[in-house]
Amino acid sequence: MRPKFKIPPQVLRILLLAIGIVTSYSIARYFLTPTTFRQYGWYRGEALSELQAREPMFAGKKACEECHSDEMAKLLKHEHKSLSCEGCHGPGQAHSDNPDVKIDQLNYGPCVRCHEANPSRPKWLKQIVIKNHYTGSKCTECHVPHAPTEVP
Ligand code: HEC
Ligand code: HEC
Ligand code: HEC
Ligand code: HEC
Repeated sequence: MRPKFKIPPQVLRILLLAIGIVTSYSIARYFLTPTTFRQYGWYRGEALSELQAREPMFAGKKACEECHSDEMAKLLKHEHKSLSCEGCHGPGQAHSDNPDVKIDQLNYGPCVRCHEANPSRPKWLKQIVIKNHYTGSKCTECHVPHAPTEVP
C-alpha cells in the first residue's frame, strides 16, 4: 500500500500562519473600515461634508474691499499691490462678518516673514538684514504698510 500523502510539518505551520494572518486582516478590515469609505472613491464619503461644515477663516480680498475700498485703492498703487490683505492682517472672516470683532493688531512679524534676508528668496524681492536695518518693533515708523516706499 502506498503511504498516505502527509503535509510536512514545517509547511503546515507556514500554511496555518498565513491563514491566521489573512483571517485577522480580513476581520480587522471589516470592523475598521469607515462605513462611507468608497462611497465616491478611495476616501471616506463623509470627509466631504466634514470639510464643508468648517468655518472659513479667510474672507478674501474682495470682502475686505467692500468696506475698505480706500485701503485697497492705495495698496494697488504701490509695491505691495500683489499681496492679499489677510497675508499681513491674518484671517479676517470673523471681522468681515461682524466688524465689531477686532482684527489682530500687527507687529513687525509679517514684514520680517517676507523681507528678512534669506538666500532662498528671489533677487527681485527686496531683503534687509534686520539687525542692521532696524531693531525696534515698528517698521511702520518709517514705512507706510500699504505704500511701503512712502514715509509716514
Ligand atoms: C462689513 C464691513 C467690513 C469688512 C467686510 C471688513 N472690515 Fe475691517 N473694519 C470695518 C470697520 C467698521 C472698522 C473700524 C472698526 C473700529 O474702528 O473699531 C474696521 C477696521 C479694520 C482695521 C483696523 C483695526 C484697528 O484696530 O485699527 C483693519 C486692519 C481691518 N479692518 C482690516 C480688514 C480686513 C483685512 C478685511 C478683510 C478680511 C476687513 N477689514 C473687512 C469694517 C469692515
Ligand atoms: C504689507 C502688509 C499689509 C497689507 C498687504 C495690508 N495691510 Fe493693512 N495694515 C498693515 C499695517 C502694518 C497696518 C498698521 C496698523 C497695525 O499695526 O495694525 C495696517 C493698517 C490697516 C488699517 C487701519 C487703518 C490704517 O490705515 O492705519 C486698515 C483698515 C487696513 N490696514 C486694511 C487693509 C486692507 C483692506 C488691505 C487689503 C486691501 C490691507 N490692509 C493690506 C499691513 C498691511
Ligand atoms: C507677503 C509678503 C510680504 C509682506 C508680508 C510684506 N512685504 Fe514688503 N514687499 C513684498 C513684495 C513682493 C514687494 C515688491 C517687490 C519689492 O520691491 O521687493 C515688497 C516691497 C516692499 C518695500 C519696497 C522696496 C522698494 O524699495 O521697492 C518695502 C519698503 C517693504 N516692502 C516693506 C514692508 C513692510 C514694512 C512690511 C510690513 C508692514 C512688509 N513689507 C510686508 C512682500 C511683502
Ligand atoms: C528708521 C526708519 C526705518 C525703519 C524703522 C525701517 N526702515 Fe526699512 N528702510 C528705511 C529707509 C530709509 C529705506 C531706504 C534706504 C535703504 O534702502 O536702506 C528702507 C528700505 C527698506 C527696504 C528696501 C530695501 C532695499 O533693498 O531697497 C525694505 C524691504 C525695508 N526697508 C523693510 C523694513 C522692515 C521689514 C522694517 C521693520 C523691521 C523696516 N524696514 C524698518 C528706513 C526704515
